[in-house]
Amino acid sequence: MEEKYRNNVGYVGWSCPSNIALIKYWGKRSVQLPLNPSLSMTLKKARTMTRLEFDYHPNNHNPSVHFRFEGNDAPAFEDRIIKFIKSIDSYIPALADTTLRIESENTFPHSSGIASSASSMAALAMCLVQMEEKIKGPLAPGKLLEKASIIARLGSGSASRSIYPNFVVWGATDDWAGSSDEYALPVTDYHEDYNQLCDTILIVESGQKKVSSSVGHSLMDTNPFSKSRIIQARQNLSTLKTVLTEGDWDGFIALIELEALTLHAMMMTSQPGYVLMLPGTLSIIEKVREFRNDTGCRIGFTLDAGANVHLLYASGDADKVNGFINAELVTFCEDGRMIMDQMGKGPSAL
Ligand code: DP6
Repeated sequence: MEEKYRNNVGYVGWSCPSNIALIKYWGKRSVQLPLNPSLSMTLKKARTMTRLEFDYHPNNHNPSVHFRFEGNDAPAFEDRIIKFIKSIDSYIPALADTTLRIESENTFPHSSGIASSASSMAALAMCLVQMEEKIKGPLAPGKLLEKASIIARLGSGSASRSIYPNFVVWGATDDWAGSSDEYALPVTDYHEDYNQLCDTILIVESGQKKVSSSVGHSLMDTNPFSKSRIIQARQNLSTLKTVLTEGDWDGFIALIELEALTLHAMMMTSQPGYVLMLPGTLSIIEKVREFRNDTGCRIGFTLDAGANVHLLYASGDADKVNGFINAELVTFCEDGRMIMDQMGKGPSAL
């Protein structure tokens, strides 16, 4: 790019969605690299909107960050962002000479039990990489999203996947050419049946988790089942690829539920072991399985590292499923809370 098109002062803004893993990332090594490849579905409505103003003073070496969350100063978040930005200045050297003013907000309540690190780190990464393009000129064609996925990953592993729409794979695997531990890739080949896959998130508990994901990941280093889990995750990913291409709902449901329960089995068999599911989580699981057996509806559950349940179902069965949720499951939700979401199209510029 010609020097005259470069900007030393400017604005960028991105809205990025959260995602739910179908094949779980659990355990990491080195600098935020996964022990096994994972595959997620990008959500549509659960999003973070981040706006960033930058002031670039070449060779000034006096960077600063001011961060506001939902209209208020947020010193705890600001400290985390400052640390993160320092950790990535070899990827974006201009950061060493830049003043940043960042504003961020979520579409979902902060205390909803929905992890915001995926959407927030993805939105911040998109802003930083686009800012770098404005300051230094464009990256090679197609490299903006790849670089944003790398930066997002360094902030939070699962955020690497929120850069792309629909289904997304992160982690090197022979099943996807070009896949990498460093960044995610969109999955382009899947059956049309999965378009508009619905996800209703049942909020069983909205509070802070007893054991954070980062502690949970590190406990995989000493988990006696770690090696077999890594092998199993790879096999499950391979099977999911076939299931997604063929539109095999029974196979899809069996796999996502196996992955959810295995994730929690890893927590229970860590040293020390811990349980994040609550009685309500188990009741929902039982009810979903009964409902599926009775009605043949295409519905299954998955879990995050917490007590809340994601119900994934075919949009064609949405009426029946919503009737079931309201009649039988809402009672297990904290204050009846749930978030109705579905598969989404990824980041959008603000
Ligand atoms: C269970 O991405 O939140 O949701 O990399 O430490 O930020 P950090 O962890 P994080 O872990 C997500 C774990 C998971 C499974 C998944 O999203 O793949």
